[in-house]
Amino acid sequence: MRILTGLQPSGKLHVGNYFGAIKPAIDAQGEGDGYYFIADYHAMTTTHDPNELRENVRGVAIDFLACGFDPSKGVFFKQSAVPEVNELAWILSTVCPMGLLERCHSYKDKIAKGISANHALFAYPALMAADILLYDSNVVPVGEDQKQHLEVTRDLVGKINDLYGEGTLVMPTARIRSDVAKVPGLDGEKMSKSYNNTLPIFGDEKPLKKLIMRIKTDSAAVEDPKPTENSIILALYQLFASDGDYRQMITDYEQGGCGYGDFKKRLAEAYWDYFAPMRARREELVAHPEEVDAVLQAGAEKAREEATKVLNRVRRAVGLI
Ligand code: ADP
Ligand code: TRP
Repeated sequence: MRILTGLQPSGKLHVGNYFGAIKPAIDAQGEGDGYYFIADYHAMTTTHDPNELRENVRGVAIDFLACGFDPSKGVFFKQSAVPEVNELAWILSTVCPMGLLERCHSYKDKIAKGISANHALFAYPALMAADILLYDSNVVPVGEDQKQHLEVTRDLVGKINDLYGEGTLVMPTARIRSDVAKVPGLDGEKMSKSYNNTLPIFGDEKPLKKLIMRIKTDSAAVEDPKPTENSIILALYQLFASDGDYRQMITDYEQGGCGYGDFKKRLAEAYWDYFAPMRARREELVAHPEEVDAVLQAGAEKAREEATKVLNRVRRAVGLI
């Protein structure tokens, strides 16, 4: 079974990204043949700053390795290291109805936000389909927001296989991470870089711990029992603390006698300890960029070898060779 997913190079990794995307991807390693790539061509639909693109791609590569991706168990590469993906995207475009792309929410949302409508932004789902199909992927773990793109991909497989024969492309299945709860941000809304409410996972101790002190709470006095429902502190603490420590905090909430300042301190400690091994690994990688390059290089070679096989099969089926 081949599992594939793409990671957007979009700046500083936060706790929501970690629990919503990075950790599930790393946990899926070993379940099958894992393919993970940094979607740098996709990032170009919204970024035209070469330095920013390079830095962000570098950033995700380092972060993903620091978070525990094991290169001996899977393939990790940059999307653009396998330019063959563009040829498959083109072939898919020739059977892709305009209406299918026009209906895509993510495109409509971006336009509504004022992002100018270039062709790449519009055609993005065809490239995403190619990302998946180029490696004969079976399972694609993604967030809820990508569900529609997987449906487009499946539609395109149907069309190609109808036209050129069953088996030309492998039909993939989406694995929607609906079991992953939305991680709340410091203000209680969904944690997101667009809401300016994030808790980054890498950075300096003092400013990061200070962010936790900014979490919104009610005005209950130290001695009062405190509501556990919808508590941002508890929701975050559960991600980092042991079961025992989490239960203890619930008891302290219910009994009263502990202030929010104390709960925030416990949360800050648990958060800091949780990511400590990843921070240490990240420092090593920053000091040895050649290690990161070697992983991406090996990944690219393996991915390209697979891609060439699949693409040749498709080229033959459609009559290019
Ligand atoms: P942001 O909302 O900060 O822009 P992205 O849209 O770049 O984050 O998300 C990258 C990945 O992280 C997606 O797979 C998304 O589902 C996941 N993710 C982002 N924020 C959260 C969150 N608060 N809780 C759970 N998963 C999240
Ligand atoms: N569009 C995805 C996102 O925004 C990233 C992505 C690109 C992807 N190509 C993919 C995910 C292929 C899964 C499979 O998160």
